[in-house]
Amino acid sequence: MKKYLFSVVILSMGMGALPVFAQQGGPAGVIINHYAANNFVAGAIPGADLDRIVQAGIRAPSARNRQPWRFTVVQNLALAKKIVPQTLDGNALIVISAEGDGKTNGAEILDCALAAESVYLAAQALGYGSRIYTGPIDGVNRSLKSDLGLPGGHNAVVLIRVGKISAGTDAVSAASRRKPAGDIVTYK
Ligand SMILES: Cc1cc2nc3c(=O)[nH]c(=O)nc-3n(C[C@H](O)[C@H](O)[C@H](O)COP(=O)(O)O)c2cc1C
Repeated sequence: MKKYLFSVVILSMGMGALPVFAQQGGPAGVIINHYAANNFVAGAIPGADLDRIVQAGIRAPSARNRQPWRFTVVQNLALAKKIVPQTLDGNALIVISAEGDGKTNGAEILDCALAAESVYLAAQALGYGSRIYTGPIDGVNRSLKSDLGLPGGHNAVVLIRVGKISAGTDAVSAASRRKPAGDIVTYK
């Protein structure tokens, strides 16, 4: 395990030197290799997989373990298209909401962001594509809260689109460039 973590750190440090980064295997491969999918295709996701993906969100850490979130899994295509128009049949949108408007405390925003990252990575670990979205969130909170059945007082914070993806794309060919580590990391 230690050896593995060491490799992750070394690889992360080296990332900036590469155009994107090399595709890596191993148990933590998905943490290094993730990318925001834009090659979704139609196709149903088995319920058991969706459950596992949502469980990863539930397992996320939160401040004082408050777990402020709710996970609303949208599989209805007509409703999903109102939120993300490009949604394809079989894709799922996992909307993470929390009580409050995010302006008074803010911890719930960070908690929901961590849950979103866990969902995003779990989906990719199971071989699906995933993409985090905040662009549609204002629209959701303006007019779709009751369609989604969000609990009273909740606002959507972030959503993750999960779906099957076309073959032949990986982080090397699809992920965007990252800033060089030398520009953004300081050791003291
Ligand atoms: C907080 C957050 C909000 C995002 N919102 C959107 C969005 O509204 N629409 C979209 O197409 N992608 C959205 N993305 C995806 C980012 O554009 C993507 O993760 C980033 O460009 C890196 O892509 P890569 O990992 O494939 O290199 C969002 C990502 C994050 C982390």
